[in-house]
Parts: sequence; C-alpha cells; structure tokens
Amino acid sequence: MLYSLIMAGGSGTRFWPMSRELFPKQFLSFEAEGPLLARTIDRVLPLIPEERITLVVGASHAAETRRILQTMNEGLGRHPRIIAEPRSLNTLPAIAVAALSILREDPEAVIAVMASDHMISPQDNFLALLQHAAQVAQNEKVLITFGILPHRPETGFGYLELGDSLPEHSTGLFSARRVARFVEKPNMETARRFVEDKNHHWNSGMFVFSAPVFFEELARFQPEMSAALETLARALGTPDERREIDRFYRTTTPVSIDYGLMEHSTRVWSLSGPIDWKDVGSWSALDDISEKDGRGNVILGNAVVIDSDNTIVRADKRVVAAIGLKDMIVVDTDDATLICAKDQAQKVREVVGQLRERN
Ligand code: GDD
Ligand code: MG
Repeated sequence: MLYSLIMAGGSGTRFWPMSRELFPKQFLSFEAEGPLLARTIDRVLPLIPEERITLVVGASHAAETRRILQTMNEGLGRHPRIIAEPRSLNTLPAIAVAALSILREDPEAVIAVMASDHMISPQDNFLALLQHAAQVAQNEKVLITFGILPHRPETGFGYLELGDSLPEHSTGLFSARRVARFVEKPNMETARRFVEDKNHHWNSGMFVFSAPVFFEELARFQPEMSAALETLARALGTPDERREIDRFYRTTTPVSIDYGLMEHSTRVWSLSGPIDWKDVGSWSALDDISEKDGRGNVILGNAVVIDSDNTIVRADKRVVAAIGLKDMIVVDTDDATLICAKDQAQKVREVVGQLRERN
C-alpha cells in the first residue's frame, strides 16, 4: 500500500521577514493558492487518502499545522497524522521516525516522501509518476528519486549522475535510469560542470521506497541511528514511548537523507518526465513562480517600480517605491524590511542568525 510522508520541519530562515520561527515557509502562501503545506497534501490526496498521510513537523509548528488542516477540504478529519519533533535533526531522522510508525501499520508499506516547499504541475502527470515510482520501488527494491533537467548551476540542490537506462522500467511518459552517483549541494564550479555535461539531473527532493528497503539501507550506512531506532521501535506503544522518543531526539546526530543515505546507497534509481517542478527555496525563487513586467520585475502588493530591471519588490502594507534598481530584492512587512542583492538571497538566513544572537 502507498503512504505519504510529508516533511515540514523547515525553520523558515530564507524567507525572512515574511517567514518567522513560528511561521516558516511551509505556512506561507504564494500566488494566493493556499499555504505550501496545504498544496503538498492536496497534491497527493487523489492517490493517497488522508489516513495514509503522515506529516512530520517541529513541535512549535504543530498547532498551526492542525489549523491549516482544518481549513482544507471542509476540514480534514482526524488525519493526516502529525508527528511533532521535539528538536529538528534534519530530514533523515524525521523520515526514519515517521517510516517506523508507518511500518508498524504495514510492514510492506511503500512510502512517498514529499518536501513541503515545492510547486509541481501538471498534477495528473505527477500522480502518474508517483504511481509508477511506487510500483518500481516495490518490485525492484530500490530507492526512487525524481530527476529534473537543470537549467542553471544551482548550488542549493542535489545532483544525480545518470547511469544505465532502464527501458523495461520506463513508460511512454517517464524514463528510468540508474543513478551512478548522488552529489548533494556541490560547489559552484562543480554545479557548472554538471549542468554543462548534460549527464546530471537535479534531485527534486522527493523519494519513493518500500519501508523495508529504506531500513536496510539505513542499517548499512547509519548503523548508529538504525540501532537507536530499534530501541525506539521496541518502546512504541509502551509506557516508555515518550522517554525513548526524547532520548532519540537528544542523542541522534542531525543529517539530511541526501548526505546520510542517498550519497552512499548503490540502489538509487531516478525517474524523470514531463513535470514542471519548482523549489520555493528563497526569495529569488519568486522569479520562477511569479508574473513579471516587461523588464523582468516582480511587483507585489503596494509596490511602485520605476526604471528598474529584474527586481522583486513586495510591499505588504506601506507603499514602497523603487527607482533605478537592478537585480535587487525588496520585501517590506509590518515590522521589518529586507533589501538584498538577488544573487545573495541565500544569505538572508544570516540575518535571522544575527537577530537570534541579539535577542
Ligand atoms: N520534519 C522535518 N524535520 N522536516 C524537515 C527538517 C527537519 O529537521 N529539515 C528540513 N525539513 C523539511 C523542509 O521543511 C522541506 O520541506 C524538506 O524537509 C527539505 O528540506 P530543505 O531544507 O528544504 O532541503 P533543501 O532544499 O536544502 O535540499 C533538498 O531539496 C532539494 C530540492 O528542493 C535536497 O533533497 C536536495 O538534494 C534537493 O535538490
Ligand atoms: Mg528545500
């Protein structure tokens, strides 16, 4: 049976000042279509009913997550299940803990792991891709990733070096390849090389695998985490459960699934096809997802933009006028204003770091 595990533990530093610690980016709405998290759930619902969806969120975000669920589809019922993490350990522990609880329900579960900061269309193709991925993952006992044709040397993504074609696992829409090597977040020079050699895809950050295969690979490459999970598994449903969950989160080393598992496993296959995928990672992503004027400017809210190029200006309340700017980002909210060179948008998280130190 196919389950979905949605990771939504982002800390919301790269969308400051719109995102805050208590209101990270998965709660933000872009283009007025509802919060990213709600769109992620809606995307899988036609294939995976809410009883088989698990959200993994930070403990301080659980209440807002529940509120968002209640506003969806006349209020989702008791489900999806929410796992609230006492501490953020990056994606591998989050996935492992959720996969453990899914495994208890269904030892043969196939799990589609979704990030909550993506925009994907068309939905029909995406669902067909998921369905195909689930079948291949289960039959071939592999970890499936979705590959995206790269169009710029992005250092914030993982890259899939494409290996052998797998025509017998390809369809009219999707082509299957072995992944010869998985490289997470290369430096700029390497990213350029990868884009030029035309033999690399971006890792979209979604994964499909059967729970037993995931835990096999985890035991192989993260034996400590795997042993800690076994202890945790024994405690689930007993009076020791709370204590063991706390212990797991206190003692486990943070690591992402990309660095911790995908870079090591030799059982990674990729599927790619006609899917339009965007990562809403930082302010510069608005370039990809918003409408622009004739000079490449994104003008949102109460902004007036004159004689400027490739500039993003978002004014929530006050009028903000920008004149003669080039490649800039200006975001004005009630209590904070960001003015940033577009090619340095990744550094917005440093602002949050400095503010934290100050408080
Ligand atoms: N529950 C939980 N706990 N969720 C988390 C945690 C955590 O500690 N850390 C991150 N997440 C969630 C985020 O909210 C997001 O939805 C997803 O996991 C991925 O985390 P990001 O922090 O956004 O990862 P990334 O964008 O730097 O890199 C990943 O995605 C890229 C594509 O968007 C990698 O998989 C890359 O290889 C990939 O290219
Ligand atoms: Mg991301």
